[in-house]
Amino acid sequence: MKNTGAKTLAKKVDFNDYLSSFMKSCGTYGIVGAAAAAVIVPVLFSSILMGKKKGKKRGVPVEVGGEAGYAVCNARNPQLAQFPWEGATTIASLFEQCCEKYSGNPCLGTRKVINKDFVTGSDGRKFEKLHLGDYEWQTYGQVYQRACHFASGLVNFGHNVDTRVAIFSETRAEWQIAFQGCLRQNITVVTMYASLGEDALIHSLNETQVSTLICESKQLKKLAAIRTSLKTITNIIYFEDDESANISDLYRSTSGWNVSSFHEIELLGERAPVAPKLPSKDSVAVIMYTSGSTGLPKGVMITHGNIVAIAAAVMTIIRGLGRNDVYMAYLPLAHVLELAAESVMLSAGCAVGYGSPLTLTDASSKIMKGTKGDASVLKPTLMAAVPAILDRVRDGVLKKVEDKGGLAKKLFDFAYKRRLQAIEGSWFGAWGLERWFWDVFVFEKVRAALGGRVRLILSGGAPLSGNSQRFINICIGAPLCQGYGLTETCAGTAFTEWDDTTVGRVGPPVPCCYIKLVNWAEGGYTTSDKPMPRGEIVVGGFSVTSGYFNNPEKTDEVYKVEFMLCIRTGQLVDERGMRWFYTGDIGQFHPDGCLEIIDRKKDIVKLQHGEYISLGKVEAALMSSHFVDNLMVHADPFHSYCVALIVPARDILEKWAQEAGIEYKDFPELCDKAETVSEVRKSLSKVAKDAKLDKFEVPAKVKLVAEPWTPESGLVTAALKIKREQIKTKFKDELQKMYH
Ligand SMILES: *[C@@H]1O[C@H](CO)[C@@H](O)[C@H](O)[C@H]1NC(C)=O
Ligand SMILES: *[C@@H]1O[C@H](CO)[C@@H](O)[C@H](O)[C@H]1NC(C)=O
Ligand SMILES: *[C@@H]1O[C@H](CO)[C@@H](O)[C@H](O)[C@H]1NC(C)=O
Ligand SMILES: *[C@@H]1O[C@H](CO)[C@@H](O)[C@H](O)[C@H]1NC(C)=O
Repeated sequence: MKNTGAKTLAKKVDFNDYLSSFMKSCGTYGIVGAAAAAVIVPVLFSSILMGKKKGKKRGVPVEVGGEAGYAVCNARNPQLAQFPWEGATTIASLFEQCCEKYSGNPCLGTRKVINKDFVTGSDGRKFEKLHLGDYEWQTYGQVYQRACHFASGLVNFGHNVDTRVAIFSETRAEWQIAFQGCLRQNITVVTMYASLGEDALIHSLNETQVSTLICESKQLKKLAAIRTSLKTITNIIYFEDDESANISDLYRSTSGWNVSSFHEIELLGERAPVAPKLPSKDSVAVIMYTSGSTGLPKGVMITHGNIVAIAAAVMTIIRGLGRNDVYMAYLPLAHVLELAAESVMLSAGCAVGYGSPLTLTDASSKIMKGTKGDASVLKPTLMAAVPAILDRVRDGVLKKVEDKGGLAKKLFDFAYKRRLQAIEGSWFGAWGLERWFWDVFVFEKVRAALGGRVRLILSGGAPLSGNSQRFINICIGAPLCQGYGLTETCAGTAFTEWDDTTVGRVGPPVPCCYIKLVNWAEGGYTTSDKPMPRGEIVVGGFSVTSGYFNNPEKTDEVYKVEFMLCIRTGQLVDERGMRWFYTGDIGQFHPDGCLEIIDRKKDIVKLQHGEYISLGKVEAALMSSHFVDNLMVHADPFHSYCVALIVPARDILEKWAQEAGIEYKDFPELCDKAETVSEVRKSLSKVAKDAKLDKFEVPAKVKLVAEPWTPESGLVTAALKIKREQIKTKFKDELQKMYH
């Protein structure tokens, strides 16, 4: 993913298309609809009462070993799940068994490029536009054959199986096939984001002594340029694209590497099969480099056992998961969320269709006008998303509604309000026919943008705001389940159940781990807090990974091994002791056993007069100002107030300036103007008041930063979370000035 600032990413997943057609349908049915709904519906259907699911226990307290605290396990499955079924103890054996079980079913689907074009934007930049074809599917049986061929080919190509392979590529079917192939030879796969910077790439390849690098052909040039720094690499395998034939001939002769295409490796393997060398459950399957918020990336060692435990646990949570499901795969596979999600889908026999954030909907930036985006062709039933994408989807839809104004806006607002009341249960009777009515006349077009069949969206990677969660719930009409997990806990730690209509929580622990809260006295969080126990979140169980590669100090700091006896079931969870991971996140458990993330240890600062300020909480609140595209709140313990760096939403700020008659030469100048700063501060004060922030939590000074923060600039992670240390370093002077 290139150039994916919060805003740009949003544009890629824009829902422009749906609204114009939505408005058309409003024209036809809107007036009748509004009148009918307002008058008839409440009268007719208020008798259909909606059964509220209050009181349902989703997680229950459990006594386990290790540090004292308040521990909870999944209410339905208190016995920790370790394997999906007998004999599936590694990803390799699980995959092999699934491929046999579902051999004739569609497994991986990909779209071919039919046509390619470039259009020139208003600023003179060229944009690639694609016309993509239908999904072409390979069955589980075929994919299994290809993985076996690749595994053999890799050995025949001369890869030393005692060394590691790295995959440096965007998400695609070959990624998954290469991954499964490596695992059949017990080869550990090193992954890193395709958008990772050069230093981080060199560092991770060198640290893990990777000898074979698998990449996309478009990366070849970039790799040649840093050749002298990639000392351990001897082989390069590239995924073919339309232009690649050409590049590689030149490359083969000049790069000094043994270069081969993915297809050639498969052929090498097909001609001379090599016996597999299957791993065991404690073998390391993946070393996943995460863009840490400080310094160089850290490699997390994920074992086969971790991933099969997640698959076992999550398969029991998604109701009716099976071969009728179609999963939209477009997030980076180098991110644990997508890797875990695809592993779950493949374990259940689902069809996995590949796409990208740039081609997701008909209106996505790389889709040629008049042709179809991935979701409208695939019509997925399941998908994963990150909050940054969902937030912008919401903003995009709202902006369109706002721009349209008039009756269309009134109808949308009205329908939205009715659905919101129904979901929140403050107004009875709105589930049955009225819901159907709004879905058909107002929300269907929004839904069509994602293919119209989505029955569950999983959101992970960062906290999602309650507003966005509701919005997607209502507009897509499907549960949006928020999950919580880290690379260190192999993604799935807690997961909202599909029938839980609350927002802002992440559900009970998944059935392969326990979640424990332990006191963090310094920050004022304890498990005896009322009304809910609070504390640092500690995760223990089969999904807890083995630690950081080549970094025992850091590993010992945050992982602890303890014997763990589940008193409830009498099960000694692991005779060699169980790993607990200290997340650094602060959470609280609701009475029904659902976890809510309330803070982050690192992001709490004690101000001069002793008040604690949670930077994350304040940032989340201020984010809802429409002037803000991104921001960082900073607090200095030697002062009594906080300050903020703000990346303004450029189009909104410029529109305001135009209306207010403010003259300016360029955008940076507009950002520096006193009137602008004052206007933005006014807006911040308002949203701060709405969110009931304390006075010391409202930034006393703000600085507007004209340049957006992107992963390339190193100021946000690939998942678009801000990197405090980097931002603090880059804006050291600005921050200092605000304190004088
Ligand atoms: C590569 O790793 C070795 C140790 O394994 C280290 O001495 C060297 O400095 C590293 N090189 C780079 C470019 O990071
Ligand atoms: C390429 O592969 C051949 C045969 O496996 C091997 O002899 C040669 O050393 C390799 N070249 C490099 C640069 O590793
Ligand atoms: C292959 O390379 C030649 C010369 O470098 C170039 O003219 C041609 O367009 C290339 N073909 C493709 C398919 O990229
Ligand atoms: C698989 O590789 C791991 C290293 O990750 C090694 O410790 C283990 O012994 C290997 N297993 C087998 C069955 O060869």
